[in-house]
Amino acid sequence: MKRRADAILKRAQAEYLERLSPPRDPLLARMEAFAAEHRHPIADPEVGQLLRILVRTKKLRHILEVGTNIGYSVIVMGRECGRETVLETIEIDPGILATAKGFVSEAKLACDVRLHQGAALEVIPHLSGPFDFIFIDCVKTEYGQYLDGLLPKLERGAVIVCDNLLWGGEVAGGRGDANTIALRKFNRRIAGDPALTAIVLPLGDGTGVSVVN
Ligand SMILES: C[S@@+](CC[C@H](N)C(=O)[O-])C[C@H]1O[C@@H](n2cnc3c(N)ncnc32)[C@H](O)[C@@H]1O
Repeated sequence: MKRRADAILKRAQAEYLERLSPPRDPLLARMEAFAAEHRHPIADPEVGQLLRILVRTKKLRHILEVGTNIGYSVIVMGRECGRETVLETIEIDPGILATAKGFVSEAKLACDVRLHQGAALEVIPHLSGPFDFIFIDCVKTEYGQYLDGLLPKLERGAVIVCDNLLWGGEVAGGRGDANTIALRKFNRRIAGDPALTAIVLPLGDGTGVSVVN
C-alpha cells in the first residue's frame, strides 16, 4: 500500500490511473473501507488488478501469499482460481487472521484456502511446494530471506509478485531506514539473479514481477 497518491508517480498521473481502476464489488469495497478505517495496509487497487490479471493468465495449482492481513489479496487472487488451486497464506497476528477468515468465508471461494498463523520465516520451512505463484507482502527487511526459503520450492515459470519495492519513493534515494536499505538490496538482487527474470514496476508502492527461469 502506498503512503500518498503521489509517492511514486506525479499526482496527476496517480489520480488519472486511480480513475481508471475498475469498480470494486461490494465485498472488496467493504474491505477497503474497513482497511482504511482500521489502518490495515492492504494492497492498492491497482496492485490487486495486476494480481487478478496474472493469476487469470495461468491455471495455477499452488499459490503462496506471505502477509495475509485481512484477506483482501487472498480474495482478489482466489476469485480467479478454481477448485484445483490451493492458496496458502501466512499472517503473524491471530486477531487479524480471524478477521481475514471471516471475510474469506464470506467470499465463498472455489479454491482451497489455507490460512497459517505464525511468523513467515518460521512457517515457510514447513510448507511443501512446488508453488507456481507467490505474493510477497510482509516484513520488508525479510524479503530476501523469504526468497531464499522459497526459491527451492518454486517451479520453472513460477511468478513472484512483491509489493512495496519502491517504499514510498525512499528506495531510489541515497540513504534510508532499515526497510529502505533492505528493499534496495532486494531489488538489486532480483534484477541480477540469474534464477529470475524480473522487473520493478512503478505501480502502487512499487511492484516487482519476476518469473523463475
Ligand atoms: C501489508 S500487509 C498484507 C496485505 C495483504 N497482502 C493484502 O494485500 O490484503 C502485511 C501483513 O503481514 C503481517 N506480518 C507482519 N510481520 C509478519 C511476520 N513476521 N510473519 C507473517 N506475517 C507478518 C502483518 O500483521 C500484516 O497483516
